Amino acid sequence: MDTRPIGVFDSGLGGLTAVRQLMRQLPGEDIIYFGDTGRVPYGVRSAETIQRYVRQDIHFLLQFHIKAIMIACNTADAIAREAVAGDYPVPIYGVTGAAGRAAVHASKNGKIGLIATPATVDSGIFKKIIGALQPRAQVMSVACPLLVPLVENGRVARGDMVIETVIAEYLKPLRDWGCDTLVLGCTHYPLLSAPIAAYMGTDVTLIDSGREAAQTVAAQLADSALLNAPEHLGKTKFYVSDSPAGFEKLASLFLQRPVEGAVEQINIEAY
Ligand code: DGL
Repeated sequence: MDTRPIGVFDSGLGGLTAVRQLMRQLPGEDIIYFGDTGRVPYGVRSAETIQRYVRQDIHFLLQFHIKAIMIACNTADAIAREAVAGDYPVPIYGVTGAAGRAAVHASKNGKIGLIATPATVDSGIFKKIIGALQPRAQVMSVACPLLVPLVENGRVARGDMVIETVIAEYLKPLRDWGCDTLVLGCTHYPLLSAPIAAYMGTDVTLIDSGREAAQTVAAQLADSALLNAPEHLGKTKFYVSDSPAGFEKLASLFLQRPVEGAVEQINIEAY
């Protein structure tokens, strides 16, 4: 039994899609969440900058005596995890591997679409993961730089003309190509599941990277005997690097439960 919390971070709200799943699967775990809302989006920045941000995010979380870190951000996972993970004393889990595996498992026609940030698409990480598992699978990738800022501004609902127009522009080539599986390769995108599913149609399976990864992390913590006592009532504490005001409202919407305790603002540049 291990009573230490799990640290989770993302550039903003997106990692909450993983947290929601962790809360469901591991209700006994305490979670420390950091959303780098002052520096979102990561996915349009250089590899050097993303790696610096990721190290600061990890340094911030490590002060809570955590037992593991989940990088709930495909961009940070793709660009920085391999480079930094060996430098820290706790296991660091990502999101891309689990999402790639789930896509291979789901696809019947071997045509897998990927939407992600420009940095994740340019890294080629999903093509590598999917190609290693299923060499005959084809992957068509579309970088969607406008989606993260729109999600952070709460533009996520079906019927919102702005988000529906942007989604149609990004997804048209993928729909025309006929992919039967679409990897939401950014943890912000499951917050857009409703308008994306409406545009792609019910025959296309959407892969939620945060959800898939949370399942893997839950299994790995259990295998490593790192779980808390099951009777413990897990708590989640939220930190952000910009004003908590907007975050709290959207976070409770996405977590489908109220955010308990104050969301605290920190100066991430100090780490
Ligand atoms: N949620 C992050 C991801 O999964 C968003 C990246 C960004 O900040 O651009 O890639």
